[in-house]
Amino acid sequence: MDMQPIPAREGNHNMKDYKEVYEQFQWDSVKSQFSWSETGKVNIAYEAIDRHADNPDKKDQTALIYSAPNREEKLTFEDLKFKSNQFANVLKKYNVNKGDRVFLFMHRSPEFYAAFLGILKTGAIAGPLFEAFMEQAVRDRLEDSEASMLVTTPELLDRVPVDELPNLKQIVIVGDVPENGDYIDYYKEMDQASKDFDIEWVDLEDGMLLHYTSGSTGKPKGVYHVHNAMLQHYQTGKWVLDLKEDDTYWCTADPGWVTGTSYGIFAPWLNGVTNVIRGGRFSPDDWYGTLDKYNVTVWYSAPTAFRKLVSAGEEVASKHDLSSLRHVLSVGEPLNPEVITWGTKALNLRIHDTWWMTETGGMMICNYPAMDIRPGSMGKPFPGTEAAIVDNDGNELPPNRMGNLALKKGWPSMMRAVWKNPGKYESYFLGDWYVSGDSAYMDEDGYFWFQGRLDDVINTSGERVGPFEVESKLIEHEAVAEAGVIGKPDPERGEIIKAFITLNDGYEESDELLEDIRQFVKKGLSAHAAPREIEIKDTIPKTRSGKIMRRLLKSWELGLPTGDTSTLEE
Ligand code: PRX
Repeated sequence: MDMQPIPAREGNHNMKDYKEVYEQFQWDSVKSQFSWSETGKVNIAYEAIDRHADNPDKKDQTALIYSAPNREEKLTFEDLKFKSNQFANVLKKYNVNKGDRVFLFMHRSPEFYAAFLGILKTGAIAGPLFEAFMEQAVRDRLEDSEASMLVTTPELLDRVPVDELPNLKQIVIVGDVPENGDYIDYYKEMDQASKDFDIEWVDLEDGMLLHYTSGSTGKPKGVYHVHNAMLQHYQTGKWVLDLKEDDTYWCTADPGWVTGTSYGIFAPWLNGVTNVIRGGRFSPDDWYGTLDKYNVTVWYSAPTAFRKLVSAGEEVASKHDLSSLRHVLSVGEPLNPEVITWGTKALNLRIHDTWWMTETGGMMICNYPAMDIRPGSMGKPFPGTEAAIVDNDGNELPPNRMGNLALKKGWPSMMRAVWKNPGKYESYFLGDWYVSGDSAYMDEDGYFWFQGRLDDVINTSGERVGPFEVESKLIEHEAVAEAGVIGKPDPERGEIIKAFITLNDGYEESDELLEDIRQFVKKGLSAHAAPREIEIKDTIPKTRSGKIMRRLLKSWELGLPTGDTSTLEE
């Protein structure tokens, strides 16, 4: 679809002219805003919370509005400072030290945010896990990170294979503490802990966060981020989210994913805005209701959500007053031009696409208030970063040529390592370029256009799933001999997971069996990783070296030419 650009409007900050700012901007100018400029040390939790809590004009501003179907709570910056201090004291009491990995496996709640910030204040590395993970997914991450402490709830505890995790020394329980074990009681300890805490001042390059994410091979990998990322979170919060201090901002992402930390925690609080956290499951009524009830001004969500709102129709929208909303953004999957058109009609606002990854730690290619939107384009590189389309040798390609979307390495929020896997980390780079794994092209005016993934990674409703993980789980099922997993295009979810399997002798195809296999993956990994479609085959195509040819499975599924099959096993 060829659509007219949607013209720019004025943003709140000094980015009136993208080109001029892009040419002049230096990251050092951002650094000087933080304690680093005086002491050479920082702590991202201090900069996000205590800096405001220590400001008499700011301390009583609501920092967090927590809203769930059965609970609503507001915390000021001062409340959050004290609660995170208390949790940091609990951690110190149990001997958590700088660099230790402390994981969180729980739903969004005020307790989660206090604990997360408390972990950072001790200099430990936080590892938030999505609450829908099942045992295998939890085990893989705790094992690889060698986490020594876990913060979780009684409901999720039986998905933590405690006996198989020798490094996991201590478990903090938020809720009723089971009697048969040696657990730390969150509420009891918090009650006893002091509200004063001596923050661990760290270097910009010290670790703060591990987010596990999927590739096309192997188990999920720990993407390691450092405190320096705050520069990017802060500045993209200004220029892309367009935040100003009296905003009420809502990011719908769960903190188990990078959007839920970079833009659900850091960017809003570094910019001193009121941050809405909505728990529970979402529905169109709920999305609109939350925007309406809290007078949200800036909203960061995902194409999946917008597509659901589009299909819910105008009647649902008309029940709510959305007039507070000023700025809307999207991330995670391609933003269909149709959705942008819907936004201009239904919300009377432009939807600003942003492109980035767990590995980039912050937004990289964006649409800014003060820039025309070309529907379907991800926008232009953030000032202080450089993006290009490169060939497989790292040579830059001219406009309108498709290739690897790459970024010049060295931006503040770039991952600094893949946990315990230097080889994997190195494999992302071609010379000075970080290669994203996405294919794209750049038009003659410098707008970037997403084309697809170059590897087999699946993006289902904005969630990144590695085919290898799903295949490994499938073949653990007693009926499954071999499995190959692909992403199949789907109008609402972007892609759905489709599995091709062969059965072991003695098993017959039946609806019950397929459902049992689906449930097996769901219970082992998580609901979003369970295949929505399973097809039984006589064989799974493999290369002579035994690699599953997912590309061929995909071509078959989509009825496309099969391309080069010379490496196919007999
Ligand atoms: O393929 C791109 C897609 O999501 C991938 C990154 O996934 P993840 O690390 O889970 O991070 C998601 C949110 C930061 C990318 O390699 N992706 C992300 N944003 C967009 C996108 N695809 C198209 N358009 C986007 N705006």
